[in-house]
Amino acid sequence: MGSLSKASVVLLSLVSLISLALLANGIGANWGTQCSHRLPPEVVVRMLRANGIQKVKLFDAEYDTLKALGKSGIEVMVGIPNDMLSTIAGSMKAADRWVSQNVSTHLNNNNVNIRYVAVGNEPFLATYNGTFLKTTFPALQNIQAALIKAGVANQVKVTVPLNADVYGSSNSLPSGGDFRADIHDYVIQIVKLLSENGAPFTINIYPFISLYIDSNFPVEYAFFDGNSSPLNDGGTSYYNMFDANHDTLVWALQKNGFANLPIIVGEIGWPTDGDRNANIDYARRFNQGFMTHIAGGKGTPMRPGPIDAYLFSLIDEDAKSIQPGAFERHWGVFYFDGTPKYNLNLGTTNSGLVPATGVQKLEQKWCIFKPNAKLDDPQVAPTVSYACALGDCTSLGYGSSCGNLDAQGNISYAYNNYYQINNQHDSACKFSGLATVTRSDPSTGTCRFNIQIQPYYGGAAKRLISIQKGLCLILCVFIVLWTNQ
Ligand SMILES: *[C@@H]1O[C@H](CO)[C@@H](O)[C@H](O)[C@H]1NC(C)=O
Ligand SMILES: *[C@@H]1O[C@H](CO)[C@@H](O)[C@H](O)[C@H]1NC(C)=O
Ligand SMILES: *[C@@H]1O[C@H](CO)[C@@H](O)[C@H](O)[C@H]1NC(C)=O
Repeated sequence: MGSLSKASVVLLSLVSLISLALLANGIGANWGTQCSHRLPPEVVVRMLRANGIQKVKLFDAEYDTLKALGKSGIEVMVGIPNDMLSTIAGSMKAADRWVSQNVSTHLNNNNVNIRYVAVGNEPFLATYNGTFLKTTFPALQNIQAALIKAGVANQVKVTVPLNADVYGSSNSLPSGGDFRADIHDYVIQIVKLLSENGAPFTINIYPFISLYIDSNFPVEYAFFDGNSSPLNDGGTSYYNMFDANHDTLVWALQKNGFANLPIIVGEIGWPTDGDRNANIDYARRFNQGFMTHIAGGKGTPMRPGPIDAYLFSLIDEDAKSIQPGAFERHWGVFYFDGTPKYNLNLGTTNSGLVPATGVQKLEQKWCIFKPNAKLDDPQVAPTVSYACALGDCTSLGYGSSCGNLDAQGNISYAYNNYYQINNQHDSACKFSGLATVTRSDPSTGTCRFNIQIQPYYGGAAKRLISIQKGLCLILCVFIVLWTNQ
């Protein structure tokens, strides 16, 4: 080996050491629980640790979830759902109670590493018609005051995860960035409070949504390795939408006197199903591109340095509203059962994603359309609508993973989904006599006919069962003693 290549080996090792150091801030993940069958929190926490995921963002402050995160060291952002904002905005007592029950208890008794409280979730989204415009700031103010009162304000910071359309650009360039005129004052109120309390601005950035709502959006620009022509902003080149969007926010903050406010990317990701642009290849390309993009620690043109980000999302949620689109139930880098969807290197393990362990699935059986049933049976349409209304048929649409099934396949898919969601109960595979249970997997190609996991009854229910078991034990011993007399 020549001395030059030795030098380059040393240099390379140095570079990888530096990138490891820069990764110290790690990658986070959003952990939502709008599922028909959620994985037990202990299983998820084990999976997070096995994958080196150091931070999670929650959408509420569910007790079992937080309890399971105790002693894990994982940094936690707890969330206040939008429907609680007006109560907390209107009552300091309610804010104190929320902080006491959902922050202090877990910090003090359960060893949960809570770092942030997300006050609301995208409360300024246009679809809410301004419902939360007037309550978000007072709720934020009250929670901040409650954190100070509880003596935890140094460790726990407030923030408000906002959608990226709270800002825009007058000239389509990052440097033209400012907050939207109609909500400008509301956003500035929030920004000012965050700045005064050393708290971060949290923004959700979605190139996928841009592509979804605008078919003329340049696909390549959504990715980090795309070959779209760069955007030139006064001599600075932007090669991907993430950087440009992020820096539009930086400019907006700067323009309003908050150039140094820290930014957290609260949600970033790509769905794998439910739309023609939602597939495994694009999702892997986007998420891996993002990981590589931030691993270097070079940041964006306007904000060089490490980027603090939370992938959206950890696990699929089959009970999410599909009002925004069928893709909503397919954001996970893991399927609902903790199986990785694709090979994604987070830079935290030697391999790709590590699957969840200790997951209990239901039996290997499926509900399908009877092979001899008639397609023109008048009960077909109503039974399929019923199954899809209560189950999840978002993989059946055009361009989705099960978009190529024939008519029988479609019906079977719907029946099976409903059957699994109902824990393979016999009565959930009737459909007016058109359905039957099979032991052979009907999955084909990209289309997976799922087997659900065992239902999770939560800590409270488990405690009840163990009390019942205890009672039974006492009673049984008593009966045995009594009958032996
Ligand atoms: C704590 O959070 C949970 C879950 O989000 C919520 O149901 C509960 O009402 C909160 N507690 C208080 C006192 O607000
Ligand atoms: C928002 O306003 C539109 C038009 O006025 C209405 O159709 C829609 O139902 C409203 N949505 C909500 C969430 O209030
Ligand atoms: C299968 O279902 C999807 C979604 O409901 C529908 O668009 C498609 O036309 C169906 N295919 C067949 C062959 O019936």
